[in-house]
Amino acid sequence: MRKKIVVGNWKMNKTVAEAGELASTVLEQLGNGITGCEVGISPAFPALAEVGKIIERSDIHLVAQNCHYEDDGAYTGEVSVRMLGSLGCSYVIIGHSERRQYFGETNQTVNLRVRKALAGGMRVIMCVGETLEEREGGVTDRIVTEQVREGLKEVSDLDGVVLAYEPVWAIGTGKTATPEQAEEVHASIRATIDDMFGETAAGHLRIQYGGSVKPSNAGELFAKPNIDGGLIGGASLKAEDFVAIVKAAGDS
Ligand code: PGA
Repeated sequence: MRKKIVVGNWKMNKTVAEAGELASTVLEQLGNGITGCEVGISPAFPALAEVGKIIERSDIHLVAQNCHYEDDGAYTGEVSVRMLGSLGCSYVIIGHSERRQYFGETNQTVNLRVRKALAGGMRVIMCVGETLEEREGGVTDRIVTEQVREGLKEVSDLDGVVLAYEPVWAIGTGKTATPEQAEEVHASIRATIDDMFGETAAGHLRIQYGGSVKPSNAGELFAKPNIDGGLIGGASLKAEDFVAIVKAAGDS
């Protein structure tokens, strides 16, 4: 059985001190409550060290929001996999739709980052998802399949890979995909994975759902057989909500 995984993506929110406070509260509220579910939190780069210290002795993973695809060099403003590793990050989010939408990320650069992260021993959460226009145009399946195929091109081992299906129209909008809509795309992603990696590959791969997950809808989403947890934006900025979502994943 696949263990659920819930990750809080704090995006560009919280100063170092504020992030430290939120991490401490999450830790306190989770207590020994992490059962049946892997948990991660993803502060912005400046707060990684501080949050890393706070969660060091816990089971919570420190997750970065992006990484570059070169080892080092003249890439002003970028952060390498080795730097993230030295801060204690065990996962990195790659290809979030905000990176694709605002920062020119493409399936090709996502693929370079994914391969670099895996080669550096970092696990990845690779995000895919269609825009509203694409959903309404009936091309969701084609777009998501392409993102999965190109993002994972030349990746030989799925061991360190988690996927996150995040319909762009559901991110930060309060509009959640219905559990049925999400389940349908998750099932189709699994078919693509089996096609790429061999018949039983998808059985082991975790696929999170992301897009306006909150305590009130987490349970029904996580109850779907192909949904293995969530990537949580807005609701992860409130410790109680995030912890409630983690518990919903643990219970499902
Ligand atoms: P949201 O963001 O929960 O605020 O919709 C999810 C994400 O972007 O990962």
